[in-house]
Amino acid sequence: MLSVQMLGMQFGGLKALSDVTMDVKHGEFVGVIGPNGAGKTTFFHAISGVHVPTSGKVLIDGAELQGKTPDAFCRAGIARTFQTPRIFGDMTVLENVRFAFLFGNHGASEELINEVIEETHIGALKNEIAGALPPARQRQLEIAMALATSPRLLLLDEVAAGLTEGEVEDVARLISRLRQQYGLTVVWIEHAVRTLMKTVDRVAVLNFGQLLADGSPEQVAADPRVISAYLGDEVSE
Ligand SMILES: Nc1ncnc2c1ncn2[C@@H]1O[C@H](COP(=O)(O)OP(=O)(O)OP(=O)(O)O)[C@@H](O)[C@H]1O
Ligand SMILES: [Mg+2]
Repeated sequence: MLSVQMLGMQFGGLKALSDVTMDVKHGEFVGVIGPNGAGKTTFFHAISGVHVPTSGKVLIDGAELQGKTPDAFCRAGIARTFQTPRIFGDMTVLENVRFAFLFGNHGASEELINEVIEETHIGALKNEIAGALPPARQRQLEIAMALATSPRLLLLDEVAAGLTEGEVEDVARLISRLRQQYGLTVVWIEHAVRTLMKTVDRVAVLNFGQLLADGSPEQVAADPRVISAYLGDEVSE
């Protein structure tokens, strides 16, 4: 469904992405890992219309989308969350999700809005002010807002960052369940490698803007280049 071909992103003298080629099949659950500054978020920006890549192609179901606006990516069925939560802190949970529905150009039927809120387990909080929620709940809200655009491909950028170990596990379970329920294809960037590895089907590793490895969690965890670039202690554990 997603085909990324020789993707490059240059910021002045810095090559944040170099010739990244990766395919994601319909229904796949792919994890993306790599050190800080490896280009993971830049990768998402370039495949969701936030950045115009310097080179390469981004195809959704065969249609070239590189250089198009975020709105065009949204219409093609891509939704994403941001590493720094982008919720409206002074609005309620319900108002945030309603806004996201409007952005996705889906008539904001209260029934659908409530379904998404229930499915992301924030039903009891829907009249709470979003900015006052604890981090884990804000992350669930972000996922709800991404779902409100009726995506086929969901891109999650560190939705478990800053959460406790138990909360990270909960988020992984939530994503897996939503994926089944809505038939989503998911790409998930996360530093919580242990949880990620046991949740996803496939792992891609970025390092200095390059795709260092791409394979099953077992293959990637055993890859000496990945161990020396990133995993180190995680693997010995
Ligand atoms: N808009 C920008 N202008 C200039 N440099 C940028 C810009 N965005 C990112 N970079 C640089 O590109 C590189 C990749 O950054 P990116 O945010 O994609 O890394 P990351 O893998 O998401 O890291 P982290 O795990 O810390 O989130 C970094 O060196 C970063 O400083
Ligand atoms: Mg990042």
